This record gives sequence, structure tokens and C-alpha cells, in this order.
Amino acid sequence: MWGFGLLLITLRQVPLCSLDKLVSDEEVLLNITKLFRALFSSNLGDQRDILQTLSSSSQTDYQAAVGEEGPSDPCRVMFDTMGFAIERRPSSLQSAGTGVFVVMGTVPKGATVAMYPGTIYQRYEPIFFQSVCNPFIFRCIDGVLIDGNDKGISKAVYRSCSGRDRLGPIKLSDTTWLTAKPYNPLAVGQYVNNCSNDKAANVCYQEFDVSTGFPIELCQYLPNVNYRMDMPRPLRCVVLVALRAIHPGEELFSNYYTVVH
Ligand SMILES: *[C@@H]1O[C@H](CO)[C@@H](O)[C@H](O)[C@H]1NC(C)=O
Ligand SMILES: *[C@@H]1O[C@H](CO)[C@@H](O)[C@H](O)[C@H]1NC(C)=O
Repeated sequence: MWGFGLLLITLRQVPLCSLDKLVSDEEVLLNITKLFRALFSSNLGDQRDILQTLSSSSQTDYQAAVGEEGPSDPCRVMFDTMGFAIERRPSSLQSAGTGVFVVMGTVPKGATVAMYPGTIYQRYEPIFFQSVCNPFIFRCIDGVLIDGNDKGISKAVYRSCSGRDRLGPIKLSDTTWLTAKPYNPLAVGQYVNNCSNDKAANVCYQEFDVSTGFPIELCQYLPNVNYRMDMPRPLRCVVLVALRAIHPGEELFSNYYTVVH
């Protein structure tokens, strides 16, 4: 018979395909940085405080990249930068709730298509209350957990860690993935459903650590925070990479299996 804890605490385990990296971490980081730069430029009016802290050559670069139309929708910026856009919509699978769809453009094979947002827990850190009845916990290969739930106690914990990590006007992480309108349109990866038997997975997970040299003005688009900051450590990020071309109207499907803890 299953005990109480066993019944409730399930984790998404990393599928095997991420053991064999499809694309290099450098390429993932380069593409994410490119999108973040475009998002920053598209909203320069709200970024004045941060812009002033940057070198004058960076300021000039961002100002030169500003489009004529003024602030644009993050989804549009994603399409213009990456050639495709994704959004949350009701899943095509029965009783799967929300899913993630390609809404514009085609995702090429090997492209970074989404990020898995949430609070990062080292394997020895307590997560019991956040994990009860929580289907959004992702387990990395090394046992690090990411809580991508945007409701309840998980949401409160993320907000508080994110608030703690601010540097004056500079936010070191994104909290808008907790809302219906994320500033970083990639940060909906926790809503990608597992494929049913008749549909093959079209994305897989890839983990990497964001180095300390990441541009500070772009940290505001990173949808992850460390639960504890007693020890400086790089930020774990999980991205979803396309296993094949994914066309407009298609839903993203991953291939994780559940671990009962
Ligand atoms: C990076 O962007 C290029 C150009 O859009 C694309 O061909 C490539 O697949 C992308 N790679 C990743 C890992 O996102
Ligand atoms: C996910 O889908 C795969 C393939 O259809 C299946 O083997 C696996 O058990 C599923 N995992 C969960 C948690 O439903």
C-alpha cells in the first residue's frame, strides 16, 4: 500500500534525451540572450534606471536597436527575433488542462522553444509543503528541483526569493511568469504536457547553469531563483529544445516520466 507522502509527492524526471545534449549550452545561452536583448530594447522607456547603470556603449547599442513602433508585445518580439512564437492554450489532450502551442512561425529542429520557470532547490533543501499535490516540480539529473507552480505557497516563495535578490532598481529574476502575461514569452515550459501514447514527443529538456557573467540588465528575464542564497552558486536553468520542426498550431509535447518520492 502507498503511504500518505508517497501518494502525493511526484516529480517530473528528466527524460533520457537530455543526457545526450542536442545543442550546446553556449548556443542556447546565445539565443536566449538575443531574445532578452530584443525584449529590453522593446521596452526601453521602462528601463531608464537600469540603462543609466550600463556603459555608454551598451546604452548606445540598446538605443540603436529600438524599433520605430514603440513598445511591442513580447510575443511579437519573440517572433521577430526567433522566427516563431508560443502561447498557453487549452491542451488538445483530454483533461490535460493547459498546454503550450506554436502560434506563429515554425520552430526549427534544435531551437530553444521554452524555459522551465520556478524556484530552484538544492537536493538537501526542504520543499515538503511546496511539493504536496504539486504537479509542476521538475527534477534535474543531479537531484536539483525546480518548482514551476504559479499558484499558492510556491508562488509566494518564488516572489519572496525574487524580492530578496534585487539590487536597487535591478531585478535579478522575472516574476511575470506567475501572471497571465509573462514578459519573457519562453517562460511557460511548465505547461508543456507529456505526450500521450499516440503522439511522439517534439521537445526535450536540457539543463544548464547561467554563469555569473550574464549581463545584469537581462537577469530580469530569467524565470528562476535560488531558494537559498547562503552560498553563491550559478543559477540552474532548464530549457525545452525542439526534437523536430514544429509547425503553427501544433502543441508542444515532452516525454518525462514521473518519480514517486
Ligand atoms: C539559435 O538560433 C538560430 C537562428 O535562429 C537557430 O537556427 C538555432 O537552431 C538556435 N539554437 C538554439 C539552441 O536555440
Ligand atoms: C509520458 O509519456 C510516455 C510516452 O507516451 C510514457 O511512457 C510515460 O509513462 C508518460 N509519463 C507520464 C508521467 O505520464
